[in-house]
Amino acid sequence: MDQLVISGGRQLKGTIPIYGAKNATLPILAGCLLASEPVTLENVPDLEDIRTMLELLNYLGAETRHLGSGRLYVDPRGFRGWDAPYELVRKMRASFLILAPVLAVQGRSRVSLPGGCAIGSRPIDLHLKGLRALGAKIRMGYGFIEVQAEKLKGEEVYLDYPSVGATENLVMAACLAEGKTVITNCAQEPEVVDLANFLNSLGAKVRGAGSDRIEIEGVAALGGHPGYRIIGDRIEAGTYLAAAAVTGGEIELVGVDPAHLRPVLAKLRELGAELAETDTTIKIRRSRRLNSVDITTLPYPGFPTDLQPIFTAVCSLAGGVSVIRETVFENRFRFTSELARMGANIKIEGNVALVYGVSTLYGTEVTAFDLRGGAALVVAALAARGTTKISCLHHLDRGYADLEQKLRAVGAEITRVTA
Ligand code: EPZ
Repeated sequence: MDQLVISGGRQLKGTIPIYGAKNATLPILAGCLLASEPVTLENVPDLEDIRTMLELLNYLGAETRHLGSGRLYVDPRGFRGWDAPYELVRKMRASFLILAPVLAVQGRSRVSLPGGCAIGSRPIDLHLKGLRALGAKIRMGYGFIEVQAEKLKGEEVYLDYPSVGATENLVMAACLAEGKTVITNCAQEPEVVDLANFLNSLGAKVRGAGSDRIEIEGVAALGGHPGYRIIGDRIEAGTYLAAAAVTGGEIELVGVDPAHLRPVLAKLRELGAELAETDTTIKIRRSRRLNSVDITTLPYPGFPTDLQPIFTAVCSLAGGVSVIRETVFENRFRFTSELARMGANIKIEGNVALVYGVSTLYGTEVTAFDLRGGAALVVAALAARGTTKISCLHHLDRGYADLEQKLRAVGAEITRVTA
């Protein structure tokens, strides 16, 4: 089993390239199934989750080919399948994003139920409420879901919660439906906007993405695209900003839009970091002592839940008490037990973590329980005294490409070993 071995206490200095956003690439790959001509994507990150989604597209009959340097060719013309197998869906809940595009094109779609995961139960009721409103017949089987519709019809859909996945599935379903669909109280994340921009580049008519109301005028068919560039990964960027904040030093991120990180940059300034930005870069330096901050996670444009574990790790070394409130998922503090083994002093009360800052964390053996919890341990280890060994790296490999190479390039002492 691989381990990351990190000797902490080194200041990070230099430049880190930010790759394409995992959570934009996944819905956009699902959206390729709606195209009637080949699509080439640019800035595609090389991640385990992306490889799983490509396996799924291949299983359904679409051809995919890596063209090198982040470019990916997808030819949907062989796409005939409609049944996503359990062994693929269980590997990644985002497989559920193919439910609607498969339904829209094949008239039926069958996906194993994604089930919960380490951070919460992850229900799908809002996805189904929306598809039902557009005319789909839904059959729940044992461990799978099947939806059917000769032709989806546009309708108004209110989302009880601005679910990212439900918004993405419904936007894709509505693109080829008859008439107009209006989704209200929808997710406003940049990845939703990127999906809408991608679909519009194929000929779809999606308006209002990035607001709480999206209107989609159904069209007969979508074309292809010779080179659609995926946005930079704001969560990857926020992770490296946190690493710079917690170790001190000065790094520059290249390939991310700071407008996608407003609440995160605000909290970094409150923590005591100094920031400078252009349209595609963010510079951070931190020389003063870390101040405690209060964070509440919210749907975009609020503070992103995916960066909550990583910033909780930073706060564990900040002077004073930080109050971290997790409102999006019900079980996203598991990693704090591993932080405590490094000397962090954190008290969990329901969906609130009270983080009593300590002066030093100590390296030890720790385990990643999920993707962002694992990233929190990396950030803590970079600042800890001594050596930390992190196991269960498959979680990290789902969301961070070239993690150790990027950190080593800015001065971190980090290696991946096979235990
Ligand atoms: C997306 O997951 C992201 N994944 C998650 O990132 C991210 O944490 C999450 O959005 C919130 O920003 C991808 O984009 C692939 P949701 P998703 O539906 O779409 C409730 C990572 O680390 N809900 O917005 O599954 C749900 O229980 C991952 O990269 C319903 O109640 O998130 C949760 O409390 C982790 N009914 C809340 O909404 C539904 O039908 C947010 O879930 C759907 C969701």
